Amino acid sequence: MMQMNNLTNKRILLGVTGGIAAYKSAELVRRLREQGAEVRVVMTRGACEFITPLTMQALSGREVHTELLDHVAESGQGGGMGHIELARWCDVVLVAPASANFIARLSHGMADDLLSTLCLATTAPVVIAPAMNQQMWMNIATQENIATLGQREIRIAGPAEGEQACGEIGPGRMLEPEQLILETSQLFSTGILADLKIVVTAGPTREAIDPVRYITNHSSGQMGYAVARAAAEAGADVTLVSGPVSIEPPRQVRHISVDTADQMRDAVMSDIITSDIFVAAAAVADYRCADVAEQKIKKKSEDLQLLLQKNPDILAEVASLPQGPFTVGFAAETENLLDNARIKLQNKKLDMIAANQVGEGLGFNTDENELQVFWQAGEQGQNNQTGKNQTRENQTIKHQTLERAPKEKLARHLIKVIANHYYEKYSAQTH
Ligand code: CTP
Repeated sequence: MMQMNNLTNKRILLGVTGGIAAYKSAELVRRLREQGAEVRVVMTRGACEFITPLTMQALSGREVHTELLDHVAESGQGGGMGHIELARWCDVVLVAPASANFIARLSHGMADDLLSTLCLATTAPVVIAPAMNQQMWMNIATQENIATLGQREIRIAGPAEGEQACGEIGPGRMLEPEQLILETSQLFSTGILADLKIVVTAGPTREAIDPVRYITNHSSGQMGYAVARAAAEAGADVTLVSGPVSIEPPRQVRHISVDTADQMRDAVMSDIITSDIFVAAAAVADYRCADVAEQKIKKKSEDLQLLLQKNPDILAEVASLPQGPFTVGFAAETENLLDNARIKLQNKKLDMIAANQVGEGLGFNTDENELQVFWQAGEQGQNNQTGKNQTRENQTIKHQTLERAPKEKLARHLIKVIANHYYEKYSAQTH
């Protein structure tokens, strides 16, 4: 099957309701995982009449969720996920098959089982793949329910027409897994950065002390890689300049691998003039050794002094370019997050900064993060044409919290915010 790329690392909550098409959901799980997605399955009581949770557990590689009031899961013990955690975890809820009964309950906002409750509690898009007898599908009650769901921006995938399990012919067959995968992956291709060129830095840098030792930091590169992937899915032409990390670059991006801050700077600057957006997610070492020893340093004395000198500040350099791109910095702070972020935004003359607290399970080497985003807002009059490093006196700083989420999800949220402010800024300048 064709690899669609944009389901890589996506968290799909697959809801299965009671219908004969439930057997196809088993194949769907397998294929979603082939596409790189992480799948968690929620089954209604009706679904368990058609296919066993054990089958879905074996295929998804995860425990299957069936109960709303599962005391272990709701208490967060034993690694279980309660309904709110599941609702937060997923990037999309795909209900396949969606029975007539489930569609009716969803259209009335019922929350009387785990799946219906999740659909109410999630902010992720919900896609349903109806499957039922053709008369049931065409019944005015079902059609009205479907229309109601459509108005609430629930996406309806299918149904297909054809021969049905009951022997009748007509509309009501669940779409084939391949088609459902295509529709689901299209959700992530937003196109909001179409035709724009973006450069993203990621990971740590590595500054040599001698031929075998170096100075570095704990950055895993996850956030920068997630931003690069989200930008590519949003239609941008992406260059990812990365320090040494152990994760695979997204396939849709141009990947430049570097070690030192100097190399990162050179790679960025050679690409930046033709770029529209720059996102500096790398944890660049602020200092490097003034003299790198040519041979391995021997432990001769009790103490050893290393003289460090400042590295180029890539972000500040890009932000000060006369016709530079829309520039977004990151700030990892252990204290005074809001004040420090504002100061960095102003001092480095950035368009936007995304700040996060490091420590306590947030920040470096963790899967989740929360971001405080600040940007310059207000009169753009003095900035246009002459470049953005002109006075910003008429501008005020605005702030938005991107709530705690897995980094991939957070990165997509951040890309939306960047796209909005990018267009806001440049449309203000052209008017
Ligand atoms: N950055 C950069 N080049 C550097 C240093 C930092 O591009 N030499 C970028 C980072 O990618 C990040 C932002 O600048 O987007 C971080 O700002 P910075 O003020 O350097 O943060 P810290 O190093 O944490 O600063 P401080 O130690 O002063 O808090």
